[in-house]
Amino acid sequence: MTKVSMTINGAPVSADVDGQTLLVEFLREDQRLTGTHVGCDTSQCGACVVHVDGKPVKSCTMFAAEADGSEVATIEGQANADGSLNVIQQAFQDHHGLQCGFCTPGMVMSTAALLKDNPKPTVSEVREYLEGNICRCTGYHNIVKAIMAASGQDVSAIAAE
Ligand code: FES
Ligand code: FES
Repeated sequence: MTKVSMTINGAPVSADVDGQTLLVEFLREDQRLTGTHVGCDTSQCGACVVHVDGKPVKSCTMFAAEADGSEVATIEGQANADGSLNVIQQAFQDHHGLQCGFCTPGMVMSTAALLKDNPKPTVSEVREYLEGNICRCTGYHNIVKAIMAASGQDVSAIAAE
């Protein structure tokens, strides 16, 4: 077992973990933060995206021990301080950017990372950035629209499907 310490959504956490424990397993099974999802075994779907030291990471590709000393952010920490949806979450709701919602935590976390680096992305940039996030339900159109809206851009010309 290895002792790991990190902050998760701003709260300090220490635990003994097996060296083979994936970060996503640690978050879901040890910390009970089940908003981070597991949608594949192949590092492709992006349902497990969290932020580690401000960077988006597929948490199924990283050992918990590798996050020792890091600041980890998950979907559970994304709402506003008063519990209301943040601007990205609200845009996904307003523009019907989800159906089953399984991909949504990863989509929201990836979007937050995108908008931090590129506050006004083009539609093409959004689509390219999301290539690591797979959605089985929506066809992506409304996800892209939601992200454009979250960035404060006019989405009236983007067709909803
Ligand atoms: S569960 Fe991590 S990419 Fe699919
Ligand atoms: S909304 Fe169902 S997988 Fe994306």
